[in-house]
Amino acid sequence: MHRKIMDISKRRGIMYPSFEIYGGVSGFYDYGPVGSRIKQNIESLIRNYYVIDEECLEVECPTLSPEAVWIASGHVGNFTDLMTECLKCGEAYRSDHLIEEHLKKSCEGMHISQLNDLIEKNRIKCPKCGGNLGKIYNYNLMFQTFVGPGKNKESAYLRPETAQTTYLAFRRLWEAARKKLPFGVIQIGRSFRNEISPRQGMVRLREFNQAEIQFFVEPDRKSVENFDEVSKIKTRVVTKDDKEFDMSLESAVKKGIMKVQMIAYFLGRSLQLFERMGINPKALKLRQHKDEERAFYSTDTWDIEYISKIFGKIELVGISDRTDYDLKAHMNLSKQDLTVSYEGKKFIPHVIEIAYGIDRPFYCVIESCYREEGDRTFFKFPKEISPYRTGIFPLVRKDNLPEKARAVFELMKKERIHAFYDQTGSIGKRYARADEIGIPECVTIDYETIEDNTVTLRDRDTKKQIRVKIDELTMYLMNKM
Ligand code: GLY
Repeated sequence: MHRKIMDISKRRGIMYPSFEIYGGVSGFYDYGPVGSRIKQNIESLIRNYYVIDEECLEVECPTLSPEAVWIASGHVGNFTDLMTECLKCGEAYRSDHLIEEHLKKSCEGMHISQLNDLIEKNRIKCPKCGGNLGKIYNYNLMFQTFVGPGKNKESAYLRPETAQTTYLAFRRLWEAARKKLPFGVIQIGRSFRNEISPRQGMVRLREFNQAEIQFFVEPDRKSVENFDEVSKIKTRVVTKDDKEFDMSLESAVKKGIMKVQMIAYFLGRSLQLFERMGINPKALKLRQHKDEERAFYSTDTWDIEYISKIFGKIELVGISDRTDYDLKAHMNLSKQDLTVSYEGKKFIPHVIEIAYGIDRPFYCVIESCYREEGDRTFFKFPKEISPYRTGIFPLVRKDNLPEKARAVFELMKKERIHAFYDQTGSIGKRYARADEIGIPECVTIDYETIEDNTVTLRDRDTKKQIRVKIDELTMYLMNKM
């Protein structure tokens, strides 16, 4: 299945490894002409939900920031993975992954000394050349560079998360939010992590896309008024001590499994968003981070994980209670006042963060929507995710049908309906090509069109065809969104 998906993806411009003509570099992927549209649609779904429904402010900040930002945030000291290198060939490995692959059991949360012992006791060698492995050490995942030339150049890092860059302008955002809590700020953009040995295609990238939302809240008010809109959602819940339940979000909160109601609320909203994207809801579960695994800035983190047929567990979103950790850290180092005076109290706001990857949901949409029916393959993308709303095809390239089809295509443009025009090859081949990139419905201009101004509308999933008047086509396509 993976080979088939990758084959279509490369052939039809969905996604492919970057720098292919120079042999590629692992951890980097291009979105092709079709994939870019799908990615934009995934981003829009998230953006529109948070900006419109949750009334978030949106910001865009630089991807490169001075060292002080990452010293204050704790990333210079703590944003590390455990690494071991082969003493013979120099190949680098993430120690925990290497040991897990070898022993087929989790070593989540183990310390360096325990992992070193496991390598020694189990005589784990370099999978590439069989050489001995060196001692494990902490390897910082940030890409370091310099700003400016010459002696006065300043050390800087590509951001490993968008979140910090949002926090830096907190005072301005507080003004923009008219000094009221809670308020949310969304940032969609690229982040960078120099992963040790990324081998899972789009699932672990060194340059990746995030949509991160920071909700600034009162320290003792981490609840939402409309929790009942998601509280009945039932799902699989895995706690930090590995207990698994099928339960509603309401029960998870009532039983104290989810201590922060706001986290439960956004887990519910994220499940709804993933389902709207076309991700199979049965493959999703909520998992709380174990104490040893949780990021240094968080007191409680819950992920939504997708169980992939190819890659196993994929984390799609992480929702964390970051408390006042980040604002306090920036306040201490920058000496700027980041406290607020609100309802008679003076305090540093707490942050509930909802951190979506974009590339991982993108991959999971592709995997979830992939269908094989006999020798037909297609992607059953929801309409709001598909790369084009419709395809416009003349039945044959003669008898004035291409001219008529172009006129229908121009009509689509005028109405801002994103359509795809194709007149090459047989009509069957064109339908197959449209199915392969998941276009939900295609319009064919045929001889009847010339007589009565109707077109054939063919449905991707059922292959059923109906006739629609050209005059009603745009309304029809728009209403069906
Ligand atoms: N900001 C959280 C993360 O990057 O995982």
